[in-house]
Amino acid sequence: MAIKVGVIGCGYWGPNIIRNFSELDATQLYYVCDLNKAALDKISMSYPSAKITQNYQDLLADDQVDAIAVITPVDYHYQIAKKALQAGKHVLIEKPMAGSVAEAEELVQLADQQSKVLMVDHTFEYAQPINAIKKIIDSGEIGDIYYIRAEWLNLGLLQPDVNVIWDLATHIFSIVSYVSGMNPISLKANADAYVRKDIPEVAHVNVAYPNGITAYMTVSWLEPKKTRRLTIIGSQKTLIYDLINVEEPIKIYDKGIDLTDISGDIHQLRVNYRYGDVLSPNIKNIEPLREMCSHFAACIDQDKIPVSDGRSGLNVVRMLDATEQSLNNNGLEISLE
Ligand SMILES: NC(=O)c1ccc[n+]([C@@H]2O[C@H](COP(=O)([O-])OP(=O)(O)OC[C@H]3O[C@@H](n4cnc5c(N)ncnc54)[C@H](O)[C@@H]3O)[C@@H](O)[C@H]2O)c1
Repeated sequence: MAIKVGVIGCGYWGPNIIRNFSELDATQLYYVCDLNKAALDKISMSYPSAKITQNYQDLLADDQVDAIAVITPVDYHYQIAKKALQAGKHVLIEKPMAGSVAEAEELVQLADQQSKVLMVDHTFEYAQPINAIKKIIDSGEIGDIYYIRAEWLNLGLLQPDVNVIWDLATHIFSIVSYVSGMNPISLKANADAYVRKDIPEVAHVNVAYPNGITAYMTVSWLEPKKTRRLTIIGSQKTLIYDLINVEEPIKIYDKGIDLTDISGDIHQLRVNYRYGDVLSPNIKNIEPLREMCSHFAACIDQDKIPVSDGRSGLNVVRMLDATEQSLNNNGLEISLE
């Protein structure tokens, strides 16, 4: 029996989630809700068999609904997800999971108590290139990680309620933790607001990981050229992920620097520059959201813990909260341990 899903929020992102739940065999798009009647009517034209309502409580009260997807702005995530869990529904929440650490912690606890699946749409964790990168790192091919650099840049969309870190760095936080398997130790952030003066549009976040590894992250809503790039510099090779390059999203450079001890004297080391091949592994083109929605259904069906479960959502919210603390204290380093 297909899992009956109710989707709350059909603005910009919601229709993508709705399409996938409607296309998968494992799920049935059963109910759709939005405060905005026009948005709801548009969905209804494409999916006439789905029930519609402007009041999300209708979905929670319907015994037929097995699972709820919360695709509203972050301010509503906690309130709706909490009521959905209390109503005995499995819950998928958009990223970032909640607006505060306390709210995210409460949702994790509630999901445990209710024995319900709580999953966060950290979409990239379901993307083929990101999973390929995880395998490459785990295989040891690039050696020890020296440092990581990430740039997530584009023009807009300025969000009314959150700064650029909450919008764009959320993805990088989940990607870096996922591919490296490391938990962050501390971070520091600085940011600037040029257009609206009060909500930063550009930010730099440096996250410290174990073994002296730092991830240097830059996010911006003010750059005309869309950039989504992750560079992982290793002792053996360097991996560059470029989301915009659909044909060859990953390149592995066998280029680097080796030191040879020629006499046992630290001052006599010979520096050798390696200029080896560049390899671009073949990556299947599967829509990450389809994988994400399918994984949510499989976790409900098989009582499994999702890859991006409530706890991983909470970890990302902890990092976001730490960036706020750092910004409010002139870039102070904030511990995450
Ligand atoms: N995973 C990703 O890559 C990705 C991409 C874009 C957006 N998002 C996330 O998706 C969420 C929604 O973003 P968006 O850009 O679609 O926002 P949006 O403002 O375009 O759409 C949100 C919709 O939610 C509706 N809504 C708000 N409160 C509601 C309520 N109480 N009951 C019913 N409907 C309600 C609004 O009317 C609106 O139509 C955010 O959390 C955002 O971070 C994720």
